[in-house]
Amino acid sequence: MKQLVRQAKIIGTGSYLPEKIVTNKYLETLVETNDTWIYENLGIRERRVAAKEEASSDLGAKAGRNAIENAGLTPEEIDLIIVATSTPDRLAPSTACIVQDKIKAYNAVCFDLAAVCSGFLYGMSVACQYVASGVYDNVLVIGADTFSRITDWERRDCVFFGDGAGAAVISHAEDSEGFLAFRLYSDGRGKYNFTVPAGGSEMPASKETIDKKLHYYQMNGKAVYETATKVLPTVIKEVLADSKITVEQIKFLIPHQPGIRILKDTARIIGLPFSKVMTNMEHYANTSAGTIPILLDEVNRKGLLNKGDIILFAAIGSGWTYGASVIKWA
Ligand SMILES: CC(C)(COP(=O)(O)OP(=O)(O)OC[C@H]1O[C@@H](n2cnc3c(N)ncnc32)[C@H](O)[C@@H]1OP(=O)(O)O)[C@@H](O)C(=O)NCCC(=O)NCCS
Repeated sequence: MKQLVRQAKIIGTGSYLPEKIVTNKYLETLVETNDTWIYENLGIRERRVAAKEEASSDLGAKAGRNAIENAGLTPEEIDLIIVATSTPDRLAPSTACIVQDKIKAYNAVCFDLAAVCSGFLYGMSVACQYVASGVYDNVLVIGADTFSRITDWERRDCVFFGDGAGAAVISHAEDSEGFLAFRLYSDGRGKYNFTVPAGGSEMPASKETIDKKLHYYQMNGKAVYETATKVLPTVIKEVLADSKITVEQIKFLIPHQPGIRILKDTARIIGLPFSKVMTNMEHYANTSAGTIPILLDEVNRKGLLNKGDIILFAAIGSGWTYGASVIKWA
C-alpha cells in the first residue's frame, strides 16, 4: 500500500555497538570459511558480538538514550517507544517495555515490531502515522538485534550477522520537509527463506529442538540475493516517483546491509553512483533491524547531513518484508 506521510521528521539519532570484535580471521579458526571470500562477497571484515550479560534491550536502551539526547529531549518527553527486533529479550514482555524501564521513559506507550531486517523502516513508518495524525508528538524508534544468540557458530553461515542497535526520534515537521513518502511491502510466500524454527508456539523449546539446533537461524542465501536484487530497485523507483524525486537529487542511500553485492547491484540498476551508497558492514556486518539507524547515526554525527538533503532508505528482510522511504532532511 502506498503511504504518503508529511509533517514528520527525524530530530535525533543514536546508536550503540557492543565492544567485542569478532574478525573473519577468527571465524576461519572455527568453520570452513575465509576472509577473502567473505569480504569479496559480503563486504564484511568483522562484526560486534554482545557480552554475555547484554541483551537486545541493553543495546537498544543505550542507542535510545543517545538519540533522545541528540534530539535535545528528556526521556519523559517520549510518547511512544517502538522497538524493532527479531531477537527480543524474552517472548514476554515486549523488549520495548524493558527498554522503557531502562531509560525511565515512563510516559511512553511501548510495543515491539517484528519485520526482521526491515523492522526499523516499518517502525519509522508507524511513528510517522502517529505523528502525522497528531496522536503523539515524540516517537522513539529503536532497531536492536543480537543475532549472535541465534547463530550456530559451528556452521559457515555464521559470517553474516553482527549485534548492534540504532535509534531515531521522530517528531513534527513543517509541511515541505521530513518524510516525503514510504512504500512498504510484505510477501508471506517467502516466509521460510530466513527462519528460526524453534522457540515459538509452533515448536516450543525442548531437548530435541536443542539437540537438532533448531533455535538457530536457517537461511537460503541464494533466495535472499535473488529477491533482494529484484525488489529493492523496484521499490526504490516507486518511492522516488511517489515523492517526485529524481535519482540525481539523492544525496545518500542509507540502506539495510545485507551484503555488498546486493547493494552494488541495486545501485547499478537504479543508476545511483555507488559512492552515494552508505555502508558499514565492513565493521559491523548485518545488524538486522540495527543496520539503518546505526548507519544514519554515523552519517549524522559526522555532520554529513544538511537541511534540505534528500536521503533514501531501503530494506529487505525475512517474511518477505521490504520497502523504501524518502526524507528531506530538516
Ligand atoms: C551468500 C552469497 C554471497 C552466496 O553466494 P552463492 O553464489 O549463492 O553461494 P553458494 O551458497 O552457492 O556457494 C558458492 C560457493 O561460495 C563459497 N561459500 C559459500 N558460503 C561461504 C562461506 N560462508 N564462507 C566461505 N565460502 C563460502 C563456497 O565456495 C561455495 O561453494 P561450495 O558450495 O561448493 O562450497 C549470496 O547468496 C548472497 O549474497 N546472499 C544474500 C545473503 C544475505 O544477504 N543474507 C542476509 C539476510 S538479509
